[in-house]
Amino acid sequence: MKKTVLLAALLCILMLPGCDGNPQAHSDDAEELIVVGFSQVGSESDWRVANTGSMKDSFSEANGYELIFDNARQKQENQIKAIRTFIQQNVDYIILAPVVETGWDTVLEETKAAGIPVIIVDRKVETADDSLYCSWVGSDFRREADMAMQWLEEETSDRDAQQTMEILHIQGNLGSTAQIQRSKGLEIAAKKHNNWVITAQLEGEFTQAKAYEVTAEYLKSNGTPDVVYCENDNMAYGVMEALDERGVQYGTGGQVIIISFDAARAAMELCRKGKINLCVECNPLHGPRVAQLIERLEAGETVPKENCVEEGLFRPDMVTQALIDSREY
Ligand code: AHR
Repeated sequence: MKKTVLLAALLCILMLPGCDGNPQAHSDDAEELIVVGFSQVGSESDWRVANTGSMKDSFSEANGYELIFDNARQKQENQIKAIRTFIQQNVDYIILAPVVETGWDTVLEETKAAGIPVIIVDRKVETADDSLYCSWVGSDFRREADMAMQWLEEETSDRDAQQTMEILHIQGNLGSTAQIQRSKGLEIAAKKHNNWVITAQLEGEFTQAKAYEVTAEYLKSNGTPDVVYCENDNMAYGVMEALDERGVQYGTGGQVIIISFDAARAAMELCRKGKINLCVECNPLHGPRVAQLIERLEAGETVPKENCVEEGLFRPDMVTQALIDSREY
């Protein structure tokens, strides 16, 4: 572990933690590993599994890191416990993929007092004092939703504007940035169209099993929706399972339009087959991005507070087998 020099530790405490580089703190021995504690949300989705893989690959011993990994199983209390353990272990950096946006101030004040820089990855945190973390890297979830809504508007432009378009909304974990922003995008678009009606907002927890459960239950007592807006791929698989059970056709040429977020390989396969009408990309490969931020901090540089990833969307006509094979997740 690099953080062994008392002077360096004092410097860490005196500075706003990690928002400026601190090369003196880590330059005493090039052989020593940088110790990183990573609190991961869980393993709820293909996206999350790919994200964990990317982080583990980047923070390997071969790359000069010792990674202490903690899977919080979608519970904020587990993340807070893990961060406190990282503080006791006196790690060099803490990486937090927060399950929800709020409720982090106290524990982040503790990391600040310990002089440990925190990098937020994927979803965001809402803090009273943004010096409590050093930098964030992730997706613009609102932009993802807006792109999807623009596509839906174009896709359904030839429908009778007097006829209601029923949208079933399957949400991810309430309070997570991915849920908040993707929901906001849909809600705002629906308000702009008199005939777009969100018939229900059901929490699918970003998992296939929960999305299947809530959709199957919904379909028992409601009509078939025109659109299902699924806030991630795994929930789209659960929705499709429930629709399959009732013999409802979906996708291109079907009765129900399916919109999904992430664009992981399995979803891209379904999109190529026309089962998903739109895959909105959400890139999970943050490992190299976070590692680059740490390298810059180690070099004494100041890093940007916000680092947003560029993403696109895919319709069935855009997805070739070669594209699927070339995807990293
Ligand atoms: O925060 C990113 C979201 O979390 C992904 O869309 C989802 O699949 C994951 O679980």
